[in-house]
Amino acid sequence: MIQKQKGTYDMQGEMVEKYNYLKRIFQDLMNEYNIKYIDTPIFESSDLYHRGVGETTDIVTKETYDFKDRGDRNITLRPEGTAGIVRSVIENKLYTTLPIKLWYEGPMFRYERPQSGRYRQFRQAGVEIFGDPTPLMDANVISIMVKFYERIGLRGIKVRINSIGNKESRENYRNALLEHFKPYLNDLCEDCQNRYEKNPLRILDCKVDSDKECMNTAPKIVDYLDEKSKKHFDDVLKYLDLMDIKYKIDDKLVRGLDYYTDTVFEVEAEIEGFGSQNVIGAGGRYNNLVENMDGPSVPAVGFAFGIERIINALDAEDVKVISDNSLDCYVIPVSENELENAVMLVNNLRDNAFSVDMDYTNKKMPAKFKEADRYNAKFIIIIGEEEVKNNKLTIKDNLTKEEVKVERDNLIDYLDVNI
Ligand code: HAM
Repeated sequence: MIQKQKGTYDMQGEMVEKYNYLKRIFQDLMNEYNIKYIDTPIFESSDLYHRGVGETTDIVTKETYDFKDRGDRNITLRPEGTAGIVRSVIENKLYTTLPIKLWYEGPMFRYERPQSGRYRQFRQAGVEIFGDPTPLMDANVISIMVKFYERIGLRGIKVRINSIGNKESRENYRNALLEHFKPYLNDLCEDCQNRYEKNPLRILDCKVDSDKECMNTAPKIVDYLDEKSKKHFDDVLKYLDLMDIKYKIDDKLVRGLDYYTDTVFEVEAEIEGFGSQNVIGAGGRYNNLVENMDGPSVPAVGFAFGIERIINALDAEDVKVISDNSLDCYVIPVSENELENAVMLVNNLRDNAFSVDMDYTNKKMPAKFKEADRYNAKFIIIIGEEEVKNNKLTIKDNLTKEEVKVERDNLIDYLDVNI
């Protein structure tokens, strides 16, 4: 038997309800914020991610799904959404009328070690805002995330925030870190020893070395920010306070993608026993990425949620998802003689925008009623010999179990009023 690939899952059953619930709420929120949908390809040229996400990042060095297509092109399945959207903004010259506010949702691919909440194919929903450099927009973007968690009914969340400044401050900070960690190099894990050469900032968010003394005594980036970055960060915090959004400054938060400048943030599910993959959304500002990808200089800020992790968090908090999967009507022809009538009726009801299904088989009546329950039908419409003769239908309210006879011609009106 062929089985699914490691780190993938089939979205089916209850998960479909939960996914649709999240997507519906996210779409409504996007409408309210005047953010427009964009959909970019799932595969792009490998160069895009090497340059966009960063040559030294874990994502690019260890996790991308790379392959050559039949035309000998180097292709990568997208590991995240931001780089593709930046490419699209440049290629379609969307930057000619700024600001532009975009949202997306879809599958991403990373060759990671699978575990609960960490998949090789997973879904992200995210927002990218181009052309607004203000700290107010950073706060606004964080407020969208928080509002979303509130709307879906998730309670235990924690926003962590930091600033990694501009390129120069980061370079100074990088040198300070190299100096600081040099004597401790042999105490650090193998990954961190590699990070020391390539990207020493990433040593700070290493899970393996996090309790070591040299981590706590490491210099803090806040002391290396220039005036402009410092003011930007202070203002972001001021606006968050104004919006009554709770956060924790985390001076070790550096993020795993290279494109960030100034503000970075992550949201954690703070639920007992939730497990280690508890970051349910993250993002930050990336003021240089559009220019680095050969576009004009356009500041940007955005975030992405991990859909599966949010679903896990909803489950962990036992949040009940309001599903929209009930059927308006389930039509039951009593015998084969009424089958044609039933087919016409179902067709007509669907044309009038009711969700309808029917029994096509020759099951016994109790089994047909059971079927209506399985589909969560609001009304059961029964067509038997008598109903056909009198041009009337028996309608059973599946909740109250009350039955009424309704003229065929009045059926649509009856359903309109009662559904
Ligand atoms: P990221 O932190 O790499 O950022 O991913 C965002 C979210 O996707 C994570 O917080 C997590 O919830 C989810 N996620 C990541 N990897 C996995 C995985 N293997 N399995 C399940 N969920 C996962 C980005 O991707 C940036 N593009 C975010 C951004 C948008 N920054 C600015 N704009």
